[in-house]
Amino acid sequence: MQNTRSLAPTFGAEVSDYTISSTTSNEENTAIKALWAKHKLLLFRNQNLDEETLVSFSRVFGDLEIHVRTEYLSSAFPEVLYVSNMKNNGKKMGILADTEVGWHYDQIYLPRPAVGSLLMAHTLPPTGGNTEFADMTTAYSELPEEVKQQLEGARAVQSYEAFNSAYSVPTSKEQKQRSPDIAHPIVRTHPVTGEKALYLCPGMTTEIVGWEAADSRAMLDYLFEWTVQPRYVYSHSWQPGDALLWDNACTMHRRDPFDQNHDRLMKRTTILPPEALAVPV
Ligand SMILES: [Fe+2]
Repeated sequence: MQNTRSLAPTFGAEVSDYTISSTTSNEENTAIKALWAKHKLLLFRNQNLDEETLVSFSRVFGDLEIHVRTEYLSSAFPEVLYVSNMKNNGKKMGILADTEVGWHYDQIYLPRPAVGSLLMAHTLPPTGGNTEFADMTTAYSELPEEVKQQLEGARAVQSYEAFNSAYSVPTSKEQKQRSPDIAHPIVRTHPVTGEKALYLCPGMTTEIVGWEAADSRAMLDYLFEWTVQPRYVYSHSWQPGDALLWDNACTMHRRDPFDQNHDRLMKRTTILPPEALAVPV
């Protein structure tokens, strides 16, 4: 078993002295998957990953998604999405540029949302661009009982359009058709661990289905404030060679802005759940 160091009181672990490769053994894979399920967020430092290794290691955790933003995919490995403010021949290389990116679950707006992402630092600015994660399992478990009861069976609308109009370049007509608004349970049972977590986020969750507008707004605002209390949040300051693997069924994340005069390139794979566990419940 690998040694680990805690990143935050309730979740997150750095996996010490581990080199990600494309030739890991079954025993290693089982051990890393167990660590991922237990800690929800794994940090691997001092990695030197090419895209092929990034993809093959990511496949240990599930099938990989080809992201709807096809203009920002690696041409050699379309499973790799670029997150960047850099340009290539005058064209943007990646999503999200240099401004703040609000709290969100990746792909919560899809019928079969990703359950994980692996994000690797390729080029970093000297400061800024921290990524924060919130532990939505603990945030749920510590909610007042009466709030838990109110949320039982409730579903919320998830909108990629809402996120894009606030934080990103609007999607094309075809991309809109691939990602219409969708409703998912507000309390999600984790497809692997069975733990319950709040499954909503300020960036993409717009309303609670069937609730009066004012009640829906008030509950969402309450939950958004609740989930980002410092005791549920870990802020990651990136170093060259960092790779972060997060559980996207029970943590949400955001990014700080950074100086637009500096380049930043991150490479991400997006991990899908097994087909039988695909739809959030
Ligand atoms: Fe994200």
